[in-house]
Formats: sequence, C-alpha cells, structure tokens
Amino acid sequence: MRISVIGCGYLGAVHAACMAKLGHEVVGIDVDQRKVAALSAAQAPFYEPGLEDLLEEVQSTGRLSFTTDMSTAAGSNVHFICVGTPQKKGENGADLSYVDAALNGLLPYLSPGDVVVGKSTVPVGTASRLAHAVVDQEPTAHLVWNPEFLREGHAVSDTLKPDRFVYGVSGGSEEHAAVAVLDEVYALPLSTGTPRLVTDHPTAELVKTAANSFLATKISFINAMAELCEASGADVTRLADAIGMDDRIGRKFLNAGIGFGGGCLPKDIRAFMARAGELGADQALTFLREVDAINMRRRTRVVELTRELCGGSLLGQRITVLGAAFKPESDDVRDSPALSIAAQLQLQGAVVTVTDPEALPNAARRFPELHYEPSTELAVQKADALLLLTEWNQYLALDPYDLAGSVANPRILDGRNVLEPFKWRAAGWIYRGMGRP
Ligand code: UGA
Repeated sequence: MRISVIGCGYLGAVHAACMAKLGHEVVGIDVDQRKVAALSAAQAPFYEPGLEDLLEEVQSTGRLSFTTDMSTAAGSNVHFICVGTPQKKGENGADLSYVDAALNGLLPYLSPGDVVVGKSTVPVGTASRLAHAVVDQEPTAHLVWNPEFLREGHAVSDTLKPDRFVYGVSGGSEEHAAVAVLDEVYALPLSTGTPRLVTDHPTAELVKTAANSFLATKISFINAMAELCEASGADVTRLADAIGMDDRIGRKFLNAGIGFGGGCLPKDIRAFMARAGELGADQALTFLREVDAINMRRRTRVVELTRELCGGSLLGQRITVLGAAFKPESDDVRDSPALSIAAQLQLQGAVVTVTDPEALPNAARRFPELHYEPSTELAVQKADALLLLTEWNQYLALDPYDLAGSVANPRILDGRNVLEPFKWRAAGWIYRGMGRP
C-alpha cells in the first residue's frame, strides 16, 4: 500500500520505518528540514535501539522516503497523523495545534476513499471533530483513531508486534469501510495473531489515556507503599514481589523508586484530568491528582535521603548522578525525575556531576547549569555520594569493590532499587534504597 506518515518525531519516524518493513511504500513528512535530512540519511534524530538499522534496511529497498513537501501525501491512500500533543504552557490540557496543523495541511491532498489515521494521544472528542473536517473536504474519505502504545526503548518491536490494535471508527462497526483498509495495512502482524478491537471514536481515544493513567497509577501505588515501608521499616521490593505473584495484580510496573517521567505519562494524566473537567466529570479523575502528587513527592524524598546520606547537609557535597534519561535505552529527558533531582540538589548547595551514556546533549540543553561528564569513571572520582537514578545496564554492572577506590566516601543511593544491597554493604558502602530498610 502507499502510505504517508505526517510528523516524523518519536512516533512517526518509528511508524514510517515499521510500515515500510511491513512491505508498504511510505513517505514520511515533517516540517523540520533537519529531521528530514537526518532520516533520509538513515540517521535517527534520537536514540532508539534498532531504529537506525531498520531505517537503513528499508531505505535500501526504496520503499521509504522523507520530505517536507506535504503534496507528496497525494500519492497515498492511507495517511497516519503522528505529531506530538505536548502539555500546554501554563495549563494542564494538551496542545492540539500540531494535530490541527497536520490535518489542515493534509486536507487539500485527500482523494476519494482515503483513510486518515490518527495515532497521536488526544483528548476524547478530538477524533469526531477531525472526522467532520475530513468529510467536509472529501465526503468519501474516513477518519480512524488508532492509538499507539509503543514504549521508548522498545519502539520498533512494540510497533511491529503490538499487544493489540484498536481501530476507532465512526459508529464503531466492524463493517466500516476503513476497517478493511487498516487490516490490509497491518496484515502481517494480524496474521500472526495480534488481536484487534473495533470501537467508536471516543472509546479508542479513551483506551490510550486510560491505559497510560492505569500505568501511572500502578507506579504511584507502589511508591505510596514505599512511603509506608519507609515509615514502618518494611521492604517495598519484597512487598511488590509478593503482591505481584497474584495474577490479578501482576509484578510489572510495580518498581518503586524515583517515580515516572518522560513525554507521556505525566502530561497524559494531566491532560486527562483537564478534559474530564471540561466534560463535567472531573470527580471521576481526582485520584489522578494524587497519583501525580505521590510521583512528585518521590523526587523530594530523594533530595532528603541524599542529605541524610551526606551527614545532614548538602552544602559543598560532591554528588554524582548516574543517569539523566527518564528511563534506560532512551536519550529522552522530558520531565526526567533524574534531572529534576540533580537540579534540586545543585540548588541546595551540592556540587553535582551528571553522567549518562546517551542523554547528556539533551540534558545540557535543558539544564545548562549542571556539570556533565560522559565517562562514568571520571564522573565518580572523589564523589561524596553516588545516586543511581536511571537504571542503565552499565550502572547495574558497576563493581562496588572497584568503585570504592575512586570515590571520596562510599555512599550510594539506589533510586531504582536495582542494586544488591548486601553486595554493596559487604564492599564497605553505605547503601540506601527507596522504601527499603
Ligand atoms: C508510556 C507507556 O508505557 C506506553 O505504552 C505508551 O505508548 C507511551 O507512554 C506513550 O504514551 O507514548 P514510555 O513513556 O516510553 O511509555 O515509558 P514507560 O516505560 O511507560 O515508563 C514511564 C516512566 O515510568 C519511566 O520514567 C520509568 O522509569 C517509570 N517506571 C516504570 C517506574 O518508575 N516504575 C515502573 O515499575 C515502571
């Protein structure tokens, strides 16, 4: 099939490459000339394992190209909208200006029977509004809402082999003409048993925000338990193991620590609350305010624990932060708890050095006042305390015996509860976890 993908950021670049991998002829369209140039040279504008190899592979087949020229969409029958929906400045709601601009740019190039497929995360009600604009322009065209569930760091495999497909079509009927078109787009993963659900527009939009809200709630639930564990001397990691053995609960997303960040969960729960308010259903989501508050409290807690670890004062203490990205296998620092903690410590008088295998250029753009050191070995020299805040594999593999010779004081705060306390204590370190005795 001939497919256009509008917006070549995280979602769009991966989606375009994966659609070409599925055998389609794809054009990726973005307003950012530099992004288009990089992608055309098979370079990913961000760190995502496996993406550059995939770009190279599919570009060599001639099935994938990138351009800034929206008129090239005219050659396609299926158009994916993959632009961002960031949090509005100074408000909780989502900024839909990129979605609106993408659709308005596309409308003049629609042909009879075309299918426009929204993948961006949008407030419920957006799809119906956009569907009207599509039909006003081209009465035989359709708009489908097909939310994306990919995780950064696993984006390629999540796109090629998702847990499920959700197609939101007007009326919600399996017989809707656009269903067969999307089935053809996703023929390969569907043939290997990936389930697909057909819903109406608002349900499809809500599936995405509900899923992210549930994940955020799960993390904040276990972080609330971590607070209880801290108050009572219990161990949240064993608690999570034990409750996670109940199939109904499950162990995934029950890792207590410094909390969630990134470009999705924090802004999605806030936009969801804002939208519920507009719909007069704000009470239904007041619990998400608490989810957000618990999450933010973890950051303050790390600062307090670091102060304790340093003997009561942060002034002049040399702190090394291991990890700046909001999670491993990503160079994304949007709302990264690690960076926000690093900045807080510096404000409170500590001398902070931040290291990360991939995210330092992005981190330096966001917090230019922090000191960055790419080499772990140099970053830990003469440190008064180490803070492991993003669980990259290389930090998990650090040897406490080797490291003890490099630091000024062998103290470590394990913000992700991924190190083995006994091993570190045996090597002479003062070890602190999150919600652990
Ligand atoms: C999230 C969802 O997981 C995806 O399904 C969704 O498609 C995506 O948002 C999106 O809306 O586009 P992502 O932001 O890549 O994906 O990151 P997650 O893997 O969900 O992690 C989010 C944050 O939660 C990270 O900071 C991570 O460190 C933290 N986390 C995760 C915990 O603190 N504890 C856990 O047990 C799990």
